[in-house]
Amino acid sequence: MTRTTAMVRERLGLGDPFAEPPSADLPLDLQGWAGTDPLLLQAIDAVRPGLVVEVGSWKGQSAVFMAEHCRARGYDSAILCIDTWLGSIEHLAREDLRPLLGLRHGRPTLYEQFHANVRARGLEARITPLPQTSQTAARYLAMRSVRADLVNLDGSHEYEDVLADLEAYWPLLRPGGLLVGGDFIPMFDGVRRACTRFAARHGLAVQVAGVKFVLRKPAAPTVPLATAPPTAVPA
Ligand SMILES: C[S@@+](CC[C@H](N)C(=O)[O-])C[C@H]1O[C@@H](n2cnc3c(N)ncnc32)[C@H](O)[C@@H]1O
Repeated sequence: MTRTTAMVRERLGLGDPFAEPPSADLPLDLQGWAGTDPLLLQAIDAVRPGLVVEVGSWKGQSAVFMAEHCRARGYDSAILCIDTWLGSIEHLAREDLRPLLGLRHGRPTLYEQFHANVRARGLEARITPLPQTSQTAARYLAMRSVRADLVNLDGSHEYEDVLADLEAYWPLLRPGGLLVGGDFIPMFDGVRRACTRFAARHGLAVQVAGVKFVLRKPAAPTVPLATAPPTAVPA
């Protein structure tokens, strides 16, 4: 297990989510959306995380993609995946997407699929699921002083939800860290509007690359030594 994984599990009291045998043995199914976008790897190499917090993991496509890259690079990293694993409004509302939820006894089996995928790729030491709403999870991370080097925000695409998620996860990002957001596309106008509003409110530049957007958190200002008051050294 990476040191960052051990730290985050210990701090959040999550134990080992892969300690017990899986309840369902599902074959690998990494269906997802833009989870293998090269921008994710560029962001990882730019910050060399530490902790990646992902909001919206679905079956784990993007989490697996990022974790495998971190493993190949030898980074001491962890991916903390936050999701209800219940799907978003569009997965319920659109008849072409609803079957992807894998409803069983009326409930999605996304978590079981995610879990099986992480196991199949041997990434139990690098990926930690936190099954929770994005807002409750953000509160808990703040409470436990967990900070991310990279946030991959790919949860709800509704305007109010995206704005709330940006406000909740921005303070959890370390200075100099990156927030990558998904689906900055006309179909999800809520994402574009929320991102633009958030960036304007915080005086940030939005970088758009393909379907994703990136916000960089300014590095903490360094205090030049010359401005520090001289300290008397006892003889
Ligand atoms: C577009 S999918 C994520 C795709 C994924 N990143 C991939 O690589 O395929 C959006 C995910 O956000 C989750 N989600 C939506 N609203 C949420 C909320 N308020 N809190 C937590 N998860 C949420 C859904 O359950 C769904 O799994």
